[in-house]
Amino acid sequence: MGRVSRGLCGVALAWVVVTGASVPAQTPAAAPAAGPAAVPAEAKKVKAAVASSSAAIDAGKQLYAKYCRFCHGNTGAGDSTMAPKTMQPSNLTDTTWTRGSTEGEIFWIIQNGAPPKYDMKGLKGKITDQDTWNLVHYVRSLGGIPKS
Ligand code: HEC
Repeated sequence: MGRVSRGLCGVALAWVVVTGASVPAQTPAAAPAAGPAAVPAEAKKVKAAVASSSAAIDAGKQLYAKYCRFCHGNTGAGDSTMAPKTMQPSNLTDTTWTRGSTEGEIFWIIQNGAPPKYDMKGLKGKITDQDTWNLVHYVRSLGGIPKS
């Protein structure tokens, strides 16, 4: 006769609840472009893909005027009066290089920003690698790099 007791299917239905209708889909547009707390060690080993030359330094100078001067100042001394008051742009003409002074490290900073606070944002995607190297050579021509 096989009369089987009724299954549990009615119960199973009970917890099929509508969920997820209001999960925010987007990340906030103003999220800080956070990166690692320091320039990665590998950056130090990266060698310039564009050799330093007076042409590269001149090109870097033009780019500096466009992208860097309003924070780091005309001479790179970090004394611009235009810089946001909330930050203290580094002096690029002194011998203190908290984040490293090799070509690769400066390239990384220009591309990714200045850790750990990232008040200075990176230019990755906005300028080419070649222009980044030109900027590196210009910054390193400002006089603060220890000769090695
Ligand atoms: C919005 C302002 C701003 C702009 C624009 C800016 N910087 Fe910076 N920069 C900073 C600040 C702030 C720091 C980090 C200071 C700190 O936290 O100690 C910094 C740090 C640096 C450092 C690290 C120096 C060190 O001693 O570790 C380098 C190199 C540098 N900037 C180069 C550049 C170059 C090249 C450009 C243009 C491509 C540029 N910056 C554009 C604000 C700026």
